[in-house]
Amino acid sequence: MQFYPPEYFDDKKNGYTAIRTVPLASAMGAEILDVDIANVSDEQFAQIKDALFRYKMIYFRGQTNMTIDDQEALTLRFGEFGTDAYTKGMEGHPNVQRVLKEASSVVDWVFGDGWHTDSPFLAQPPSISLLQSLDVPPYGGDTWWSNAQLAYELLSDKMKEVIAPLKVHMSAAWVLSNVNKGKPKLNDLSLGDMNLTVDQQKMIKGNFHPIVRTHPETGQKSLYCDTSYSMGIEGMTQEESKGLLDFLGWWATREDFNCRLRWEKNMLVIWDNRLCLHKAFNDYDGYRREMIRTIVNGEVPA
Ligand code: SIN
Repeated sequence: MQFYPPEYFDDKKNGYTAIRTVPLASAMGAEILDVDIANVSDEQFAQIKDALFRYKMIYFRGQTNMTIDDQEALTLRFGEFGTDAYTKGMEGHPNVQRVLKEASSVVDWVFGDGWHTDSPFLAQPPSISLLQSLDVPPYGGDTWWSNAQLAYELLSDKMKEVIAPLKVHMSAAWVLSNVNKGKPKLNDLSLGDMNLTVDQQKMIKGNFHPIVRTHPETGQKSLYCDTSYSMGIEGMTQEESKGLLDFLGWWATREDFNCRLRWEKNMLVIWDNRLCLHKAFNDYDGYRREMIRTIVNGEVPA
């Protein structure tokens, strides 16, 4: 089965003259070649952005020259920084979040565990996320992504009709209950080696967003629901919405809609939270993993 015709991946047809792309899986994801993140030309940036919307997640290997400032500068070319709902940011870099698990940490949950789109409980969730690998385990610690645009596209016309008017309640209630588990005080929040600064009430209250989202720049429609933050559907009982959300959450993350990245040091990954879901893995106890993350402020989902 081919989700996209071969020409979808054709750099020449796509007008990519300043970058090369190597698809990671047939559903989504691509490596981008010929780019030094510390020196991205305007022509390259336009093609990188197009490739991001095409592949939903893109990555760059061997970015040994890349600094935190370079990551910040690239993030700002996509739009203004988003405010992270979980952490305060690094000293001197308030818009950069360190995602860290030390070799000595043994935790039930890591940051990003569970299929999700970034912070959808916010009124304006982050549109795009960038993650740079500083230290990676020798194995494990992969990240998975799933193509939410493809998931929407392949629903039946009848299901598309049913879900078109629906709004999903996005709340961090379930995620925070996992983070809080076994913690002495409700406000003593950490995830392994990450201290969290969160407004729990606001995150639990969350927001209602369209379950079918339209990408503001490309017009692509995607399923905006996940298995971490989607708590209910406006106007439905818990039982009714659970049935539908269980199906849609499973469908949106179907294995053949996924790609999975084995990290190397000095990689940069960029994904569009409006077009895909992702999930971190907690399978590398005994090894250190350190990433730095920036987010772009998003629009009110429509
Ligand atoms: C995230 O969800 O932003 C983190 C993903 C990861 O650490 O793999």
